[in-house]
Amino acid sequence: MASPLILMCWEHPFSNWIDAMQKLTSQSEWIARAQTVLPAGGFGNFDPGIVIARGEGSHIWDEDGREYIDYLIGSGPMLLGHGHPEVMEAVFEQVPKGTTFFANNAKGIELAEAIVEAVPCCEQVRYVASGGEADMYAMRLARAYTGRNKILKFEGGYHGMSAEAQMSLAPQMRVNFPTAAPDSAGIPQGVADQMLIAPFNDLAAVEALLIEHNDVAAIIVEPLQRIIPAMPGYLQGLRDLCDRHDVLLIFDEIVTGFRLAYGGAQERYGVTPDICTLGKIIGGGFALAALGASTELMKHFDKAIVGGDNWLMQLGTLSGNPVAAAAGLRTMEVLRRDGSYDRLREIGRTLQGMQCRALVEAGIPHQICGDETLFDIYFTRAACRDYRSAKHDDPAQNITYNAALRDRGIFKSPGKLYPSLAITEADLAHTQEAVRFAVNALGEH
Ligand SMILES: Cc1ncc(COP(=O)(O)O)c(C=O)c1O
Repeated sequence: MASPLILMCWEHPFSNWIDAMQKLTSQSEWIARAQTVLPAGGFGNFDPGIVIARGEGSHIWDEDGREYIDYLIGSGPMLLGHGHPEVMEAVFEQVPKGTTFFANNAKGIELAEAIVEAVPCCEQVRYVASGGEADMYAMRLARAYTGRNKILKFEGGYHGMSAEAQMSLAPQMRVNFPTAAPDSAGIPQGVADQMLIAPFNDLAAVEALLIEHNDVAAIIVEPLQRIIPAMPGYLQGLRDLCDRHDVLLIFDEIVTGFRLAYGGAQERYGVTPDICTLGKIIGGGFALAALGASTELMKHFDKAIVGGDNWLMQLGTLSGNPVAAAAGLRTMEVLRRDGSYDRLREIGRTLQGMQCRALVEAGIPHQICGDETLFDIYFTRAACRDYRSAKHDDPAQNITYNAALRDRGIFKSPGKLYPSLAITEADLAHTQEAVRFAVNALGEH
């Protein structure tokens, strides 16, 4: 006699069978299965103690059917929410025509045009599949163009997982500037020797380094470092220093691009870098990222112009993927509509205001740090201006607060809250209740 499993397969279309199998599997079973086949039980990104089953608009559901308001939004890309109908329409139009080609395609070309139109420093773009790759190539491009090797990076700045980026991202011990401290095993000392590390928001420190080192190719910076804002004049100060010392300025706009404003941090702060990297939103939730710069710089990707010795070889299987490009293009079309960014900022202000009021009423020292479009709380009295000052006085407070929020159906990372345009008034009301609960939990902590 056939086993029940085989009978199920026979009687139902394959996808129904998969659905049926998944429904039979509880979250704790998924977690146990993950622990066997995934190191540390996860993908390396987020708490492996939750397994997401699906998302719709501003909400997600875990494998036990528990519903959450999503303020993680895939770590940034889902600015319009999950399964936005217009983005899905664009995806479903593209999928039957082909999902990847490893060759030029119209959607990828149209997306490049839209980026060049939107982002001040971009005359041309080159696609990659992830933000970390874009940053790696941005640094390589700066080296190819200037013929110099050193990269100046800020302590606590995140630029993906390349060897260079893994320098002084989250050092556990204080190392004297400008020495680079690797955050990961497996990186040769030679990489650290090519990096200069400076504190964020300190122009004098950068100036001193550029005077001392005449072999710096580029400064790479997150215009909003994690959630720490640049102080007034700081980004322009970096621009001026780069110009004075013939150093290229790279803005890592993987997060800030199309979030802080349609033209990213460059538009928001009025400072134009030489090179920028983009990711997350431009792929509409699919794997796509890019770096962009002037035609003069981007010529290094064209062997016919620069010749073999100066050519920056770059290719990637999924680069310019048409499904991702279609999703990104449609996302950007929606974002261009009147009032999109005003609404996003209004949602962010409301979320900041409700948390600030509740914490002030409870007499809990804190700083809300960031931009209305991306921020979080530091439980401290000290102003947050760089990696060393942006700290919780008592990290346990942050753990308690975020756990209580999660308990009340708020899904966010422990270090960032991403508002999205899918957030509704009902979501805000629910979040307010959760915030009250979390602030009370802090009182008991
Ligand atoms: C500022 C910044 N740069 C680079 C990256 C890396 O992007 P990806 O995860 O797509 O490699 C991230 C990811 O969160 C980021 O926040």
